[in-house]
Amino acid sequence: MANVKALLFDLDGVLVSTEKNHFIAWCETARTLGISFSKEDNEALKGVNRVDSLKQILKLGNKTLSSEAFESFLVFKNKIYLDSISTLSEADLLPGVHALLRQAQSMGVKIGLGSSSKNAPMILDRLGVKRFFDVVIDGNGVTYPKPHPEVFLNGAKALGLDPSECLVFEDALSGVTAAKEGGFLSIGVGNPLLQNVADVYLNNLTEFRLEAYV
Ligand code: BG6
Ligand code: MG
Repeated sequence: MANVKALLFDLDGVLVSTEKNHFIAWCETARTLGISFSKEDNEALKGVNRVDSLKQILKLGNKTLSSEAFESFLVFKNKIYLDSISTLSEADLLPGVHALLRQAQSMGVKIGLGSSSKNAPMILDRLGVKRFFDVVIDGNGVTYPKPHPEVFLNGAKALGLDPSECLVFEDALSGVTAAKEGGFLSIGVGNPLLQNVADVYLNNLTEFRLEAYV
C-alpha cells in the first residue's frame, strides 16, 4: 500500500506501555468489588473506555451498582492508575516510537492520536511528544467508543484525509476492529493475539518501514 499521508496512533500499548497500569488498576478495582478478573478478561477491555470497562467488569461478576457507586469506582480506578504513572517520562516511550514520529514529521506525513483515554493529552505531554501531533482525538471528544471507528474517522477528517490514506497502529482487538470498520489499514503492534487479525503485524515499531507506504 503506497500513498499514505497520515499515521494514526493508539496511545496505551502502542506509544507507551501504560496498558499494564490500566490492568493493575482494574485488578485492584475488581478485587475491591469482590469480582475475579484475569489477564484474559483484561484482553477484552484493551482500548475500551473507562465507563464501558467498569460495565464489563460488573458483568463478569454479575453485579450492579447505583449510579453514585459506579461513579466513585471510576474515580477510584483512575486514581490508582494516575498514581501508578506519576513518574512517566520520555524514557517510557516504547521502542521505535520516537524515531518513527521524527521520520514521519520530516517526510511530511501527518501524525494523529486516536485514543479512548481521557488522560491522553496529559500523557502525551509527559512523554514529551505532543509537538509531533497534528491532531489529537481522545476519550474526551468521541460519542461512540472503540470498536466504533469514530475516533479514527474524526482523526482522518480533521486532517482532511480519506481513511484509505491513513494507517492505524493498534495493540487492541477493539482498536483493530475500529480501524477496519472505518476503512483504514490496521497495523497490530506488540500483542500476538492480533497476529491473524490486523492487516499487518509488528512486534514493535522498530520493525515498521515508513518508506514502503508513502
Ligand atoms: C484505552 C486503554 O486507551 O483507554 C484502556 O486501552 C483504558 O485500557 C481506556 O481503559 C480509557 O482510559 P482512561 O485513561 O480514560 O481511563
Ligand atoms: Mg491500546
